[in-house]
Order: sequence, then structure tokens, then C-alpha cells
Amino acid sequence: MSRLKITVVGAGNVGATTAQRLAERDYADVVLVDIVEGLPQGKALDLNETGPVLGYEPNVIGTNGYEETRDSDIVVITAGIARKPGMSRDDLLNTNAGIVKQVSEQIRSSSPNAILIVVSNPLDVMSYVAMKVTGFPRQRVLGMAGVLDTARYRAFIAEELDVSVRDIQAMVLGGHGDTMVPLISYTSVSGIPITQLMPQAKLNAIVDRTRNGGAEIVKHLKTGSAYYAPSSAAVQMCEAIVHDQKRILPCAAWLDGEYGMSGLFLGVPCKIGRSGLEKIIEVELTGEERDALARSAAAVREPMGAVKL
Ligand SMILES: NC(=O)c1ccc[n+]([C@@H]2O[C@H](COP(=O)([O-])OP(=O)(O)OC[C@H]3O[C@@H](n4cnc5c(N)ncnc54)[C@H](O)[C@@H]3O)[C@@H](O)[C@H]2O)c1
Repeated sequence: MSRLKITVVGAGNVGATTAQRLAERDYADVVLVDIVEGLPQGKALDLNETGPVLGYEPNVIGTNGYEETRDSDIVVITAGIARKPGMSRDDLLNTNAGIVKQVSEQIRSSSPNAILIVVSNPLDVMSYVAMKVTGFPRQRVLGMAGVLDTARYRAFIAEELDVSVRDIQAMVLGGHGDTMVPLISYTSVSGIPITQLMPQAKLNAIVDRTRNGGAEIVKHLKTGSAYYAPSSAAVQMCEAIVHDQKRILPCAAWLDGEYGMSGLFLGVPCKIGRSGLEKIIEVELTGEERDALARSAAAVREPMGAVKL
């Protein structure tokens, strides 16, 4: 049986790190695409030369075109510009919409059966652009945000409680922006409700820090945004597909009546397996969480309405 093929579009910080993590896992051939001449070729060669040391088969191809990406099983879209200090994710809207549109047109003809994992920001709107331009069904278009936002939330809780990050179970829903909704009612430490382990004020501060988790890193880096955690989150989604894991992960998915909403991408609990989005899980929310999700949806619809395709 031939190996799966995963294409990563955008060989910048997130894309190259995603390609590295995938190559090291050794379950798929990886094609890295960028418009900058030499960039994907150089990074692919560097990754192939790492194989003998780390012990994986060197199968990374770098290219400026789409011929080599033909019939990819999964395509991760990271092409676009990243935030600089003072910029919101929505500031990236028109530039990245043009880029994601161009990339999606190429994918539509070169890999018509691929599952897309969109990473470019503003995430929920770019996922919409990718779905609209490719015409792919919602099962095959997912946005990566919730896994990352949840990882940040889990990391902050573990740090505060001085316990292992592995034991924190949590879920952050909503749009990938300041209105995201960390679900306190579904946050636990090895099954113990978080509210038994931490005072509400502390929890509120962590929720706040999670909402601004991306900006906190942009402020430190000054020239770009986070990529280690984002690439690991994109790879976790790839892995759920590659190994048909049926994982329940918070991902941006196209809503069609779930949570009482339709016609937008929003972060919700998704069952992810070999065919992509296999199911959206509807969980009970408190009144406050439901209101927060509705506010988050409104914050996604606004830039979505402004994007020109
Ligand atoms: N969803 C998330 O949680 C999340 C997290 C981190 C970053 N991001 C987003 O991911 C995107 C990439 O971030 P980064 O840090 O890797 O940025 P980066 O600037 O390091 O890399 C982006 C790359 O895209 C390439 N590119 C631009 N236009 C292209 C096109 N038409 N075709 C192919 N490649 C093209 C650029 O040449 C560049 O190499 C940004 O939009 C960023 O905001 C999202």
C-alpha cells in the first residue's frame, strides 16, 4: 500500500514546522508549497537530510507549483501573512482571503478528494473561503483553532495547579478570536471539576489569558506569531484522520443547524476520523456559555460578510 500524501501550503513558520512534525512521524509523504522560490525546496532538503539522524524515510518535496501535490489525501493551508504587534486576526482579512482563494483553486483541481485543514487567519473566515472556493463538502473542510486554544488553556491551568498538563481535560469553543469560549463546565483534572480545585477569580483570569494567548506571543516575538503549538495542533488533526482515530477535538466546522446556528464556521466538538469531520457533537451549555457562543458567532459573521470572493 502506498503511503498517504499530505501537502502543506505555506513554508513559513507554521507550515515548515508542520512539515517537520509530519516528516518525523513518518506515516506520510509530505509536499511543502510556497510562492517564494527556493524556500520550500531548501526546507524540504534540510528535512530530508534530517531523516538519517532521526530515523525517518526522507520523503519531503518542496515546490512552487501544485503538480507534485497531485492527489494529496490531506492539505494543510498555512499560506498568508501572520499578525504583528497591534494587529487583530481580522486585520489580515483581505490579504489572506486572496491568498487562500488562490490556493483553494489550485487544490480543487489538483486534489479534488483531499481533506482540508485550514490554519490561515482569520481562521473561521478563511475556512469559509476554502470551502466556498473548492466546493468541498463540510466533511472535508476543517479549521484548526480549538485544539490550539484548548492547549493554551490546559497549559495555563496545569501551571497554576502545578499538575501534569496530561491530566487537564478541557474544550474551547467558538470563533478563533477574543470571543472564544473556554467551557468551564467541561474543564476537569482527571475527572475532578476544575471549580473544586481553583477559585473562580483565578479561573476567570486564565480564561482571559487564553483569549489573549496568541497576542501574548505576538507581543514577545514582535515579528510574527506562534507556530510550535499551532503546528502541533494541525498535526494532531492530521493524525486523527490518518489513523482514523475518531477523536473528539474542538475544530472549526461548518454549522448546519448544530447549536441552533447555520451558515458559518465555528469551533465546536468534532469527531474526526478517516473521512474528516464525521460528526459534530452537541453538548449542553449553561445559559452564559450559550450567550458567549452566540456573541462569538456574531463576531465571525461580520468579517465573513465583508470578504469578497
Ligand atoms: N489557526 C491558528 O490557530 C493559527 C495559529 C498560528 C498562525 N496562524 C496563521 O497561519 C498563517 C501562517 O502563519 P506563519 O507564522 O507561518 O506565517 P509566515 O509569514 O511565517 O508564513 C506564511 C507563508 O505563506 C507563504 N505564502 C504567501 N502567499 C502564498 C501563496 N499564495 N501560496 C503559497 N504560499 C504563500 C509566504 O511566502 C510565507 O512563507 C497566518 O495567517 C497566521 O495568522 C493561525
